[in-house]
Amino acid sequence: MAYFSMEISSDSANFGPLSQRFLSEIIPSIQSKCSTNTESSRNWLNLGKYLMLADRVADATSALQRSLQLDTSYEALLLLGELSIGMGKRDDAIRYLKTCIELRSERWEPWARLSVVFDWLTEREEVIKYQTQALKLLSAQNTGGEVFASKKNDPVSMYIDLIKRTLTDLIYDEPETISLRCHGLDWPLRAHSMMGLYALDNIESCVQSIIEDGIEGDLVEAGVWRGGGTILMRAILKVLGDCGRKVWVCDSFQGLPDSDSVRQMTQKDRDLLAVSRSTVENNFRRYGMLDQQVDFLEGWFTDTLPASPIEKVALLRLDGDLYSSTWDSLIHLYQKVSPGGFVIIDDFGSIPECRDAVTHFRRKFSISEPIHFINWQAIYWRKSL
Ligand SMILES: C[S@@+](CC[C@H](N)C(=O)[O-])C[C@H]1O[C@@H](n2cnc3c(N)ncnc32)[C@H](O)[C@@H]1O
Repeated sequence: MAYFSMEISSDSANFGPLSQRFLSEIIPSIQSKCSTNTESSRNWLNLGKYLMLADRVADATSALQRSLQLDTSYEALLLLGELSIGMGKRDDAIRYLKTCIELRSERWEPWARLSVVFDWLTEREEVIKYQTQALKLLSAQNTGGEVFASKKNDPVSMYIDLIKRTLTDLIYDEPETISLRCHGLDWPLRAHSMMGLYALDNIESCVQSIIEDGIEGDLVEAGVWRGGGTILMRAILKVLGDCGRKVWVCDSFQGLPDSDSVRQMTQKDRDLLAVSRSTVENNFRRYGMLDQQVDFLEGWFTDTLPASPIEKVALLRLDGDLYSSTWDSLIHLYQKVSPGGFVIIDDFGSIPECRDAVTHFRRKFSISEPIHFINWQAIYWRKSL
């Protein structure tokens, strides 16, 4: 199918997950380039990127270190920093990422990655310092024209692309808010998702890999707001003719549960987060996506998830902001994620209590699959096949 046979530039800076089939073809071809006499730092860097996506951590680390031996590159240091975060190697992560900043202080990525290395309770100043600088650099970035250049021209890709531009409101947004909407930095007035374009790109890549690799299970989002993420999931299944899996839309449809941190929010923000079920259903309807393959699970996660009818999960996307919401979702749904399925955590980089829940969960259940960064805040990992 044309949609799956797309070519990915090996120089691409931040691509999402790729299918196992694609990785099993591309990795040997780059390996053979690396073993020629004219080995280059760029080839080793590309090999490291693909090995990372294949979750081959030790091989990826060696390839990136070889790339660094041949040439000190910001990209290799950043990836080594990211790998170190996923492995819990805090000192290595700090060393790699601080070197990145020495080389390219204008890039937001190392600042954002460093902000998740430090502990919120004991090193709060560091977290705030690095996050503030990352957001300052990101907001100043001119994302303009490149977003609107069509990257793929087959009908399926173009349809999904249009859905994403509509869900994010990029088709209407003013030039000065384009960058915010791409990175998901704002709470948009009208868009059907708070997620930025790049987070939606990541959903697309995950669903595409799930279908291509034949991973069993449904697509789930816990914390949907106006429903945009789940509308996109349904649209992708539909356009790819996948009739065998459901999209689960899980939310209280009345905002966040009461807690100390929620009480510190303004009433306006709390109200903004409460979107009724009928509004979300209407949003689905507007895209022609409300059908038998969509199921709503209404209520607090702590009540609905323990005995939910969700059986197997191929994509678990968590966007509930709080420690309790993230923990409840992981505790009740993680064991249902199929091997090869994806877990996306939207607020890992932006909300320390969400990050704490994920870190505690990964530690408690010895989850060692590497973490991949999607944008300034979201991460994903792929359950081992
Ligand atoms: C940040 S919004 C989600 C944004 C959304 N994923 C998007 O694409 O725009 C958080 C959502 O999580 C829901 N939520 C948070 N904690 C919850 C819980 N414990 N139970 C049910 N819903 C919860 C809120 O109602 C809200 O709709």
